[in-house]
Order: sequence, then C-alpha cells, then structure tokens
Amino acid sequence: MDTLGVGVIGYGFMGKTHTLAHKAIPFYYSPPPADCELRAVCEVTEELAQAARRAGGFQRCTTSAEDLINADDVDLVHVCTPNSEHMPALRAAIAAGKHVYVDKPVTASLPEADELEELLGGYRGKAQVALQCRFFPATMKARQLVEEGFLGPVTHFRAVYLHSGSVDPNKAVNWKSTAAAGGGAIRDLGVHILDLLWWLIGPFQSAHCVSRIWARQRPNLDKPGSMMSIDAEEAAVILLRAADGAFGSVDVSKLATGTEDELRFEIHARHGAMRFNVMQPNYLEVYDARPPDGDLGGRGWQSIASVHRYPAPGGKFPGPKFTLDWFRSHVHSLYSLLKAIAADAAPSPSLAEGIHIQRVLEAVRESAAGQAWVELPQAR
Ligand SMILES: NC(=O)c1ccc[n+]([C@@H]2O[C@H](COP(=O)([O-])OP(=O)(O)OC[C@H]3O[C@@H](n4cnc5c(N)ncnc54)[C@H](O)[C@@H]3O)[C@@H](O)[C@H]2O)c1
Repeated sequence: MDTLGVGVIGYGFMGKTHTLAHKAIPFYYSPPPADCELRAVCEVTEELAQAARRAGGFQRCTTSAEDLINADDVDLVHVCTPNSEHMPALRAAIAAGKHVYVDKPVTASLPEADELEELLGGYRGKAQVALQCRFFPATMKARQLVEEGFLGPVTHFRAVYLHSGSVDPNKAVNWKSTAAAGGGAIRDLGVHILDLLWWLIGPFQSAHCVSRIWARQRPNLDKPGSMMSIDAEEAAVILLRAADGAFGSVDVSKLATGTEDELRFEIHARHGAMRFNVMQPNYLEVYDARPPDGDLGGRGWQSIASVHRYPAPGGKFPGPKFTLDWFRSHVHSLYSLLKAIAADAAPSPSLAEGIHIQRVLEAVRESAAGQAWVELPQAR
C-alpha cells in the first residue's frame, strides 16, 4: 500500500492527541498497518496553523479545511474541530472520497446526523469515529466475555462518566458548554458511555433523562474577559430500558467533585457480573456466579490483568505486563482504522454507528427537555 497522506483539521486537545497517535503507531505496532505521513494541518488563524505545523511536524499548514481535504496528497482526514464544525469537513471529505477519522460525537444535532447518513450512500472511503473507550484491553476483554456468553441475560447495570471541571461556578469554560456548538454533558460524556453500553449489552428501547445546569453564566475561555451563557446541561441522569426488561442508569456530570476522568460501568447478569473503571484501566473485574458457593465461600470477584495485552502485532512494546493509560486507547483506535484501510475492510465504530449513537444522544436530550420517557432509535 502506498504511503497514506494525513491531514488534521483542528489542532486543539484532540488534534494533538490524533497527531501523537500517528507518531506512536510505528512504535507500538511492528509492522504498522500503513506508512503514514503528516502532510497538512488546518487551524482557524495563520498563527495557530503555523504553530500547529511546527509543533506537530506537518509538512505544511493552511487555514482552509477545504484546501486540506481536496489536496491530492491527503488521503485520510482527521476532524478534530468543535462538534458544530464537524459537518462542513465531513461533507467535503465524503464528497472527495477521502478516508475520515472524526472525533466524537459525529455531529452537533439530529438534522446533521440525518444528513450525514444520506451522504454515506455513495461513499467508498473508510470512516471511523474516535470512541476510544472500546480500545482498552479490558473493555475488549469485556466484549469478548459477553460474546462468549459469560454474563447470560443482563438484569441491571449502572454506568457513570464523571468530570469535575465545572464544579467552580466561576471557572472559565469553552464551546463545550453551549448547545449550539454541540456541547453539554450528554453529547460530550454520554456519547462514550452510551456507545460502550450499546456495544457491550445493547440495544436499549427507551430512556428517561433528568438534567441540570449549575451556573447559567461563566467566564468565556474562548474570549478572555467576557462571560458566556451556559445553555447545555452540565449533569444528567439517564434511565435506560431494554426490550427484555434489563434496565439501568447512566450518570454523566461535569459537576462531580472529587473525580478526574471517571468512566465506569457495572453490569449484573444471571450468570455473572463485570465492572470497569477507566481510572484503573489495567483491570477488568468479573464475578462468575456459576461455581458453587459453599459454607466457607467459593465465589468472588476476580481481577483480570488486561494491562498492555493488545493482540499482535500490538502488545510487544513496551511489553504486555506494563501499565497503560488513556492515550494508549487512542493509539489502538487509530490503529484499527489504519488496519481497516490497509485491508479494505469496514472500520468500527463506523460513521454509521456514530450516527446511531448521535440519534440516541438527541433522543436523551429530548427526554430531558420534556421530562418524559422517549422511545430510542434503533440501528438501521
Ligand atoms: N475522544 C476523546 O477522548 C475526546 C476528548 C475531548 C474532545 N473530543 C472531541 O474532539 C473534538 C475537538 O475537541 P477538543 O477538546 O480538541 O477542542 P479544542 O477546543 O481543544 O480544539 C478545537 C480546535 O479546533 C480549532 N478549530 C475550530 N474551528 C475550526 C475550523 N473550522 N477549522 C479548523 N480548525 C478549527 C480551534 O481553533 C481549536 O484549536 C470535539 O469533537 C470533541 O468532542 C474527544
């Protein structure tokens, strides 16, 4: 396969993460699925674009996403802009037939998700969403166990994604706190945990959500010295019900004092249970309810050291026994897209899966607005 030309649009937090993941791929996977070159980066001003080019090691920079996407030497387009800026880049990249790696959530609204699905009709590129929580060895192990029938019928579950970044009402925030930019805890945090639940034990049929905004005005991080109105939820609790009666809760918050980046789930089922916390990503905890439980005990929770055990050709560097972190899940997520491109296979989580989760997010937001149960969209 020829060298894959990479272009990154938006060089903020995630633009840097995606760029670093490209640089890391050849260390972690030998051989890498594709040779990639960082050809172009796009930012909103010439100054930011030049700084991104220098720091990221790109061959060139631009302030025109259109130019980057249509350049002959760019094959894979990373969309790392604020959520409301995804669609223009996705439209152009799909029209140009480029491969796409878009960060979550895929769009900022339901009409955009519907439009995106239509655009995929004649698209022949490979497109993946950065829902990297699927790419820890521990979450992959969880999925493997579910597929093998370890759990049996699920009874109930609870899942959380908790941040504390908005606890201080005077803390400056950015576009992630406004609905028009596609922000809010449901879209920002809910997308990860809802995707994980769907992937592991979904689908679900209906949802009921209660949400809250804590501070209506906050200092504006994007425009220092000014205030911004907060109209996107800062915390939400979502009840989910499945067709077979399984039910559970999802709690997403930016107001969770004492947390850092706490995504965790606990799933209880007829034959067993499992739990995971991204703050301890090296382990998946499982409980097998099948062995007999004698007077002196017999059953108990087992901690599976998933550690750095990525399947070959991953896992060799730095070695399977070493601890891993959040960033490593991003590297494996990008690896899985590059592998799909090289093998002409379908990537996952695909854009279609991202569109489905977007529809779920928008239905959950509708439930919060109407304070009522809503039927959830099913994957098409
Ligand atoms: N998967 C994850 O773990 C994760 C974590 C955080 C954010 N995200 C997602 O990544 C995306 C970016 O979030 P972020 O935290 O990096 O935001 P950010 O605000 O740190 O960075 C966004 C960057 O995009 C630039 N930008 C804005 N509009 C642009 C345009 N039209 N063209 C080019 N550049 C533009 C901004 O100048 C900024 O540098 C969002 O979709 C967000 O939801 C994903």
